[in-house]
Amino acid sequence: MKSIVILISGRGSNMEAILDAGLPLNISAVISNRPDAGGLATAARHGVPTCVVDHKAHATRDAFDAALAESIDAFAPDYIVLAGFMRVLTEGFVKRYPRRIVNIHPSLLPAFPGLHTHRQALATGVKIHGATVHLVTPTLDHGPIIIQAAVPVLTDDDEVALAQRVLTQEHCIYPQALRWLAEGRVRFTADDVVEIAGINVSSYLGEQQLLVPKE
Ligand code: GAR
Repeated sequence: MKSIVILISGRGSNMEAILDAGLPLNISAVISNRPDAGGLATAARHGVPTCVVDHKAHATRDAFDAALAESIDAFAPDYIVLAGFMRVLTEGFVKRYPRRIVNIHPSLLPAFPGLHTHRQALATGVKIHGATVHLVTPTLDHGPIIIQAAVPVLTDDDEVALAQRVLTQEHCIYPQALRWLAEGRVRFTADDVVEIAGINVSSYLGEQQLLVPKE
């Protein structure tokens, strides 16, 4: 069975969705860059080992990323799963784990990389918003897309309401993406586009409808 470590910075609701999903994966550890991350207690309740690599204890990004890599490598995971991990990783760190770092971003990439994605969506006036699970490359919020979920933007939405609608979908698509990785279904074309072996649609539309055919 493949193994993962999950990196968090905060409440860890995506992490919890992954822990609750019964995936065919060993979840070796949860690592936080913040000692006060709420998700650490949740992980401990689930019986998953936790550790903290505090970014404030390291003077440079390179020093933090080296300490983080040491902590990760102690668990020898197949994949590193970023679940609300709010640190920008150095190119050196990303290149150490090619196609092995997975991230969830709360927008339909390539739209709205960076922070405050829901605010950006409302300000831009897009009518459809969503979330993306992708493999991490050195370019921020960029890389081969595994699955996306779309939700409507409603006229009376504020940031909180829109974020909650997107988050509900995040909790569906992140476990699904990891299941495909666990099953060895994630393949790459010559152009680095992801194809999911045996499945020809990897998106959710609307709030409920799963378009992934069940086998
Ligand atoms: C989630 O919405 C996740 O997509 C986002 O942070 C939130 C974390 O919530 N991640 C990013 O913005 C990464 N650039 P959680 O801690 O409850 O999973």
